[in-house]
Amino acid sequence: MIFVDACFKKDVAYTPIWMMRQAGRYLNEYMVVRNEAGGFLNLCKDYKKAATVTLQPVEILGVDAAILFSDILVVPLEMGMDLEFVKGEGPVFKNPIKTINDLNKLDIEQGVKNLDYVYDTIKCVRENLAYEKALIGFCGAPWTVATYMIEGAGTKTYAKCKKLLYQNPEFLHQILNLVTQATKIYLENQIKAGVNAVQIFDSWAGALEEGAFFEFSFKYILEICDYLKAKYPQIPIIVFPKGISGFLEKIDGNFDVFGVDWSTPMELAANKLSHKFTLQGNMEPCRLYSKTAIKEGVLNILEVMKGRSHIFNLGHGILPDIPVENAKYLINLVHELSVK
Ligand code: CP3
Repeated sequence: MIFVDACFKKDVAYTPIWMMRQAGRYLNEYMVVRNEAGGFLNLCKDYKKAATVTLQPVEILGVDAAILFSDILVVPLEMGMDLEFVKGEGPVFKNPIKTINDLNKLDIEQGVKNLDYVYDTIKCVRENLAYEKALIGFCGAPWTVATYMIEGAGTKTYAKCKKLLYQNPEFLHQILNLVTQATKIYLENQIKAGVNAVQIFDSWAGALEEGAFFEFSFKYILEICDYLKAKYPQIPIIVFPKGISGFLEKIDGNFDVFGVDWSTPMELAANKLSHKFTLQGNMEPCRLYSKTAIKEGVLNILEVMKGRSHIFNLGHGILPDIPVENAKYLINLVHELSVK
């Protein structure tokens, strides 16, 4: 698989590409299946439909990898939290974690078992996906998942989380530790079901200052990596911490690919990290509004990454109103221009 080879810094014939949030609302075919399922969470729980939308971007766009269709928040949901996706607002937990009693109600063992529909989706995708295309499993970094569990919804200030961080760090560590233990088993089960790589999304890493990032986020990411690498060294691990360009040189660990967000200059990331990791990224997602902007973005990134191990991606998720034609243009352009 060209995607897995690139993760392991092997020589590849061209630069593989996939897009974060590639299965989603910009595809009419996705909207049809989502409406049939009666909403996003029902779609995640219906393994046949979830497999269908996982496969769509490979069939429609020709990306080199499929990413499992699910969400990072199904882990706290299935451990006992009440999750809803409210139109226009995103995810909402009606019973956010406030006290140790709230935390003690969550059940790791039951949670990872209730996630059977995810493992069934993986099996169904792998049966229907061409051999040379990789299937990427994923989870949220414990910090990013915990921000939703504590705030109850998306946040601009992270005030509740940071109040805990400074007033009651032991309790925050207890929450992070619980999510970490569940995530280790969850990813292991995804690997057993057939994923060829895993990505850890730390979308809100950039909310933390340097010391806090290493203590409250990266430490737990590395615990997950060490656990998986000891058992499944053949499965590449991608770590995507968004918003930490200020201290890239301090990043190291037992993983294979570093995901670069679009606000980090690729050249900076390449200079600081290419000797250790394959880099993934990092076109600014809004360039997809214009073919001229796409071409400029692709040329710049391929030039910087020439001779270095690289997986092309967006620097964050694709937006719902992107024309599909432009997404196709991006995939074809990267394939054409990167041929060796
Ligand atoms: O990348 C993929 O195509 C795979 C599927 C995937 C989804 N969410 C589907 C989804 C993945 C990998 C995620 C990860 C995720 N979920 C993250 C980390 C990556 C990132 O984007 O930063 C986060 C923070 C979440 C939590 C989440 N889920 C939010 C904040 C939202 C609302 C925002 C939005 O786009 O509506 C979701 C909903 C969600 N997750 C959708 C999809 C396709 C939209 C649901 C819909 O169809 O209405």
